[in-house]
Amino acid sequence: MSKKTANIASKEILNTREAAALLKVTTQTIKNYIYSGKLKAIKTPGGHHRIRRVDLQSLGFVIEEEKDARNLSMDELWQAYNNLMQSFVNTVETFIRALDTRDIVSAGHSNRVAEIACQMGKKMQFSEKELQELRLAALLHDVGKIGISEVILGKPGRLTDQEFFLVKKHSEIGEKIVAGVDQLNSVASTIRHHHERYDGKGYPDELAGSDIELNSRIIAVADAYDFLRSDLSFRKAHSINDSLTEIKNAAGTQFDPDVVDVFVNGVKGQSMQIH
Ligand SMILES: [Fe+2]
Repeated sequence: MSKKTANIASKEILNTREAAALLKVTTQTIKNYIYSGKLKAIKTPGGHHRIRRVDLQSLGFVIEEEKDARNLSMDELWQAYNNLMQSFVNTVETFIRALDTRDIVSAGHSNRVAEIACQMGKKMQFSEKELQELRLAALLHDVGKIGISEVILGKPGRLTDQEFFLVKKHSEIGEKIVAGVDQLNSVASTIRHHHERYDGKGYPDELAGSDIELNSRIIAVADAYDFLRSDLSFRKAHSINDSLTEIKNAAGTQFDPDVVDVFVNGVKGQSMQIH
C-alpha cells in the first residue's frame, strides 16, 4: 500500500475519490452505491458526498489496515529489516553469478567463498548481523573485476606486470562500486582489503596483522582455498589435503594464523561442509 493510500486508510471521513481509492473501485461505483442506497453518505453544503469509513466497511469490502511504521514492535521491525536484507542479498547473488562467469575461477566462486567465510564466522561466534555483513562482503569481494577486461581475467597462465597491475586494481574498484550503494557501503573497506597479506606484503595498502580488518582476513583464506580447489583452464583443482597444506603453510605470512586455525580445524572436524 502506498503512503498516500495508507493516509486515506487512517481517515474516518472520506470524499468519493478517497473512498474509491480505498476500495480500489471507480468513483462512479461509489456514487452508484450512494444513489442505490447501499452506502450511507453525508452531503456537504456544496453538494459533495462525504462517506464515513465505518459505512464503507459495511459494504463488505476488506479494507487493508496499514500499520504505521512507528507503531511496529521491535520484533516486527527486525523481521521487516531481515526480509528486506534477504531480498537484497538474493539480488546481489544473482548479479554475482553473472559476474563469476567472466573469471578464470569456476562459476559459483563468490557464493562458495561466502559460504566458507560464513561457516568460519559462525565458528567465531559472529552475531546474525555480523554474519550478514561478512556474507555480503564475501559475495562482493571481486565485484571490482567488472572493471577489468575479460581478456585479462580469462588469460591462462602468467600475467604480464602490466596485466597484473590492472587486475590488482579490482579491490579498489570494488570498494568504490559498493561505497555508492547505501545498503553496501559498510562492506566497502572489507572489499578494499581482501588481498592484504598478514605480513604486510599484500595490496592495495600493504596493511599487516590486525590492521587488516577481520572480515578481510577471513575472506582472504576462503578465497584462496576455493581458488586452490577450482579447476582452471591450465591446471586441475588441488585435492582437499593439498589445498589445506598450502593454506597452513601460508599461516603467519599470507594469512592470519588464528583464522587459518579456525578454517583448518573446522574442515578437519568436518563440521564445515566444504567441497
Ligand atoms: Fe580478489
